[in-house]
Amino acid sequence: MEASDVSADLTRVLVSESEIRAKLAELARRIENDYDGDRPLLVGVLKGAVMVMADLARELRIHVDMDWMAVSSYGAGTQSSGVVRILKDLDTDLTDRRVLIVEDIIDSGLTLSWLKENLGLRGAKSVEICALLRKPGAAKVDVDVTYLGFDIPNEFVVGYGLDYANRYRNLRDVAILAPHVYES
Ligand code: IMP
Ligand code: MG
Repeated sequence: MEASDVSADLTRVLVSESEIRAKLAELARRIENDYDGDRPLLVGVLKGAVMVMADLARELRIHVDMDWMAVSSYGAGTQSSGVVRILKDLDTDLTDRRVLIVEDIIDSGLTLSWLKENLGLRGAKSVEICALLRKPGAAKVDVDVTYLGFDIPNEFVVGYGLDYANRYRNLRDVAILAPHVYES
């Protein structure tokens, strides 16, 4: 889906498809260098990270394993509840693995700081984070993001995996959702 297909619902495009592609290539070069000889386990956080995972993994010129977790910290609204629940756990044994969590966005940081600690307790050799987007609120909780795409303003965004009420995930760009969509 293009931004023009839902232009009435969007305030503006914040990060375009081509800016995302260029940034992921940049991050992939760093990851290849950092994981030289160690096959990373990419852990995608469902459902928002599906697009980042698909594009980052294909950009990487090294072998990787991929696994998925589903956690929930959000209801249907736009505010973080702070409550994290595992809806789907990993299939992979983390013992001595170098884990790279792949996320779409860090807002409060609650989800990722919880997840990083949780995976660290399973015997992983290292747990790092790659996130495409970060909002200013993430500064409140101390989450170390080793690979960051873009710092963005504190707006509710959709597209490239990010949804509002399960819509807009298939939008190619990341765009600011017009307030009338969630205020109505
Ligand atoms: P946190 O625990 O507050 O960092 O929440 C992170 C999760 O909230 C992300 O993985 C998203 O699923 C969701 N989220 C946070 N901000 C947005 C947004 O602007 N649009 C869509 N989803 C968001
Ligand atoms: Mg998410």
